[in-house]
Amino acid sequence: MIDKINALKDQIAALAASNADEVEALRIKYLSKKGEIPSLFNDFRNVAPEDKRQVGQALNELKTLASEKINQLREALENSDAGEGQLDLTRPASPVRLGTRHPLSLVREEIIDIFRRLGFTIAEGPEVEDDWHVFSSLNFAADHPARDMQDTFFVNRMPDVLLRTHTSSVQSRVMENSRPPIRIICPGRVYRNEAISARAHCFFHQVEALYVDRNVSFADLRQTLLYFAREMFGPDTQIRLRPSYFPFTEPSAEMDISCNLCGGKGCSFCKGTGWVEILGCGMVDPNVLEACGIDPNEYTGFALGMGVERITNLKYQVKDLRMFSENDVRFLEEFESAH
Ligand code: DAH
Repeated sequence: MIDKINALKDQIAALAASNADEVEALRIKYLSKKGEIPSLFNDFRNVAPEDKRQVGQALNELKTLASEKINQLREALENSDAGEGQLDLTRPASPVRLGTRHPLSLVREEIIDIFRRLGFTIAEGPEVEDDWHVFSSLNFAADHPARDMQDTFFVNRMPDVLLRTHTSSVQSRVMENSRPPIRIICPGRVYRNEAISARAHCFFHQVEALYVDRNVSFADLRQTLLYFAREMFGPDTQIRLRPSYFPFTEPSAEMDISCNLCGGKGCSFCKGTGWVEILGCGMVDPNVLEACGIDPNEYTGFALGMGVERITNLKYQVKDLRMFSENDVRFLEEFESAH
């Protein structure tokens, strides 16, 4: 009997089938009630008692081997496209998962696109900067609080190497290296030494714009801002400029837009005022032009800077800044159809 079992084992190990009917035929031949293996089990009662242990074990092994082999053959056929000797075109396709653009990238591209239509070109600068380009050339006083370690990440002191706190540093780099007319837009990441919360982060993104030429006026700035606001937030958007202060612009202003959630009527988002602040701007301070080698008697310019997170919050009402850097796909996938 042992010989018979071993011969069957060899036979079964070598089985092959080219379609489901053949697999079924093999199953019937070996495993069905009257199949070869169950009939061996029937013969088992005639085995001499001293051989029962060895034969029983071999029989069980044979049975496991046979059912595994039949399953294997069946699975191999199901997984191959040649299941019934032909392609099954009704089988569902494997889904292709498309990635999504990050909301900050979407908004940054939209801002750049609007300024590109006005003739601005992209300029970039390093994130690891020096004191001159981030502060001194931009007319920051020696004791300005932004120069403090509390606000700025320093990589080194004396000479100062630091992470830029704003993209205005790209302004001074471009002005040093080119002559007017200058019309640039500078997108980039900036860093500040802030505790991370829903409303503040130690890094975020800004877009800066700079226009320097003969006879650039505040009216040019205002018209550019109005065009930007209406392209970005819709044709009914109103803007208002409030006097402000930045070391590198004189005069300086902050721009509000009519709240795009309530249309200016007043809601919880705009704290009932109907207006929300979106950017800082002004006429480039003559000291800055001079520090960068541009004659302030011949040229004037305007500059503006905005936070990409801020604009994104306004467009998509993202309540917590941390969402932007957590890479939670459930959040990111919400922007799938945004563009
Ligand atoms: N650099 C400013 C900031 O980080 C933003 C800014 C304000 C940029 C006014 C400008 C500007 O170019 O004119 O908050």
